[in-house]
Amino acid sequence: MGTIEKLLICIILVLGLTSPALADEEKKGKPPLDVKATFRTICSYCHQDMGRKPGKAPQLMDSQRSDEFIFNRIKNGKPGQMAAFGSSFSDDDIRRIIKYIRSLKADEEPQNPL
Ligand code: HEC
Repeated sequence: MGTIEKLLICIILVLGLTSPALADEEKKGKPPLDVKATFRTICSYCHQDMGRKPGKAPQLMDSQRSDEFIFNRIKNGKPGQMAAFGSSFSDDDIRRIIKYIRSLKADEEPQNPL
């Protein structure tokens, strides 16, 4: 086998092995939800002060609700009270929102979860 052929086989092998991995990367490459911006533009309309104060809706900071309860409320909403966000946010996005809610403090600027 000549050098060129060997080289071609190498290239084919490398491409064959890496391209599915790359496709996977691209799917995962979707940036995580910017929870802070979401709160500023959407949730704060009802959950005031980035979720730190009650408004038209309950305060989310220091919530005694379980993660499961919060998850379901965001995903499924409550008819006549709060929209269901299940089609806007992935389950991972919602888990990030829960992290954000849990990290809220009265005297600290809210931060996006890591
Ligand atoms: C149009 C007003 C409105 C908007 C916008 C809104 N909510 Fe709500 N939300 C409510 C109301 C009203 C309730 C209380 C429902 C009830 O009585 O159980 C609520 C309840 C919740 C609860 C449960 C709190 C608890 O202790 O019962 C969570 C968590 C929550 N909202 C998260 C969010 C998030 C996250 C967003 C933004 C993506 C958001 N909400 C946007 C009105 C809103």
